[in-house]
Amino acid sequence: MSDDQQLRRSKEQQTADISEAQIAVHWPEEDYFSPSATFIAQANLTDTSVFERFSLDRSPDCFREFADLLDWYQRWEKTLDTSNPPFWRWFVGGKLNACFNCVDRHLAKHKNKTAIHFVPEPEHETVQHITYQELFVRVNEFAALLRDFCGLKAGDRVTLHMPMVAELPITMLACARLGVIHSQVFSGFSGKACADRVVDSESRVLITMDAYYRAGKLLDHKEKADIAAAESAKDAHKVDKVLIWQRHPGKYSSPTKLVEGRDVIVNDLLRKYRGKRVEPAHMPAEAPLFLMYTSGTTGKPKGCQHSIGGYLAYVTWTSKYIQDIHPEDVYWCMADIGWITGHSYIVYGPLALGASSVVYEGVPTHPDAGRPWRIAEDLDVNIFHTSPTAIRALRRDGPDEPAKYNYRFKHMTTVGEPIEPAVWKWYHKMVGKGEAVIVDTWWQTENGGFLCSTVPAIHKMKPGSAGPGIPGIHPVIYDDEGKELPAGSGKAGNICIRNPWPGGFQTIWKDPDRFVAQYYARYCKDRKSKDWRDWPYMAGDGAVQAADGYYRILGRIDDVINVAGHRLGTKELESAALLVDEVAEAAVVPAADEIKGKVPDLYVSLKPGLQASKEIANRISAAIVSEIGAIARPRQVIIVPDMPKTRSGKIMRRVLAAISNHQNPGDVSTLANPEIVDKIKELVK
Ligand code: WT7
Repeated sequence: MSDDQQLRRSKEQQTADISEAQIAVHWPEEDYFSPSATFIAQANLTDTSVFERFSLDRSPDCFREFADLLDWYQRWEKTLDTSNPPFWRWFVGGKLNACFNCVDRHLAKHKNKTAIHFVPEPEHETVQHITYQELFVRVNEFAALLRDFCGLKAGDRVTLHMPMVAELPITMLACARLGVIHSQVFSGFSGKACADRVVDSESRVLITMDAYYRAGKLLDHKEKADIAAAESAKDAHKVDKVLIWQRHPGKYSSPTKLVEGRDVIVNDLLRKYRGKRVEPAHMPAEAPLFLMYTSGTTGKPKGCQHSIGGYLAYVTWTSKYIQDIHPEDVYWCMADIGWITGHSYIVYGPLALGASSVVYEGVPTHPDAGRPWRIAEDLDVNIFHTSPTAIRALRRDGPDEPAKYNYRFKHMTTVGEPIEPAVWKWYHKMVGKGEAVIVDTWWQTENGGFLCSTVPAIHKMKPGSAGPGIPGIHPVIYDDEGKELPAGSGKAGNICIRNPWPGGFQTIWKDPDRFVAQYYARYCKDRKSKDWRDWPYMAGDGAVQAADGYYRILGRIDDVINVAGHRLGTKELESAALLVDEVAEAAVVPAADEIKGKVPDLYVSLKPGLQASKEIANRISAAIVSEIGAIARPRQVIIVPDMPKTRSGKIMRRVLAAISNHQNPGDVSTLANPEIVDKIKELVK
């Protein structure tokens, strides 16, 4: 593709009819809250000279400090290689192993300390406290199985479709030990969605679990592996082996039969590998650690490829200084490991620092809204990390619950979506008991770790604002014409990062063109330049910067909807809807939701002569759940007689979004069919 074509393609991809940022709620600037003296007294980072140390003109060399938190087999020669922009290469020449850094290196001092607290959803089941020594043993045995039974070696990809159980980090770390690239798919995604990722990553091995608990039910998960394998086969890709962990070791908990010659129960097979040890592979810093698929503007999810050295250095530094994790802390991030938050801030960051990390299997409000606070009390959790959606749900279902439990958080995080000041204040007062410092961290799957946040012991907090760029991150806001908005202008524009940072993804798996087009083409100053200063990274979010330098994120500027802190591509939903025979056209728009932030509303028109019915609407909804997963289920499926269209036949999503959000759709007189607007309004009422 030529530069021009790429640029055009990226522009096309980035002009959504209606974006989240456009329907964002703009709340007024809030007053500051200060971190407590007690927090500051123990914090890892209180020295304000850090911002000088990480000033733009010290980039990229300043990031050496990040890599120095890791153990290297061989030190790197070059901090940043920019010879092939924007494919940055960090810590070139260095060799390390991520598993060694998260497990082995802690044994000398901390082998008897809990690495992972696994909290099953059923409250009567005992919590498992897995020490670093036990983690070491289990990771080694499983790594031996992957190597000797599956024949996996460095560079191979493996798809994991696992729930929130201790076996998930064990599996990831075993892969990392061998240099095998893991690709964990969120367990709530459907078998079909899993298959798309198996095929794209060309995984020959799929690792899953028979069943898991969610909202009080033991769900059959193994059935999704069968669907994934069958759907992959349709794409001429064969899954050779399905490895199945047992949720209840020693007992198979799924009604779905095993497939001879393909399916293996891990717990049985592991007996053969008892006592086995596997030397960690000495991996180049630049080798990929994992793929994490995320939604974009096209129907196809993109595999974000993260490196071993840069990524691990980035999550370790940010865990230490933004999460303020000390080795003696008990840290609980309530995200799912199936998302980037869990990779970076449940598994790799906290374990690299030798902390104890909590893995909770189930729903935060199960069996009641006191559950998280009971867990915090029992395990003496002192750092807590969750999403605005979870906070809103806990606030709705149990506003006074936290006060009933005797736990004390020193630090709390919010991530994934904008948080309303009222919700922030409840989090601060009730959950944090007025003591815990809060960081509102803005970042994305592509970024590896936090981009904007306050530094907890240095900055004041401002409800509803993420904060400035973290040390080493230099954001800038551009307008649509590519002009920089003046710092602190309070005007909305597209937020970009001026400089490369070690946690940034390396490419989109098998799609380097899309990588360039989507993230760099729009604001690149000179396509021939080898100077990173000419290549700002475009995040795809609308943002404003206040006079104090704090950024407030408004939402996506593209065809992506952030539902409960998780990204859904509108095109993915639309193509799923179009699989239903009766559907002629489909359009998805974001609708504001009290708990989930945004939810998708789906508008469809049927093929000529067909009558709208509840039954068709239900089938469309079901198609989306089976193609993508329950998180994509539309709030409503609205069957319209016709879509509002421009004269050139383009569906006006802007009008539909206005209707869904009870806003004024504006001037519709230029539509080809303006009369349809009132008819649709009637249907949505
Ligand atoms: C999108 C990235 C990376 C963590 C989980 C989400 C939105 C993320 C914030 C925040 C406002 C936020 C952005 C971003 N977002 N954090 N603190 N305030 N919005 O990862 O699925 O890659 O989604 O989430 O719109 O682009 P993701």
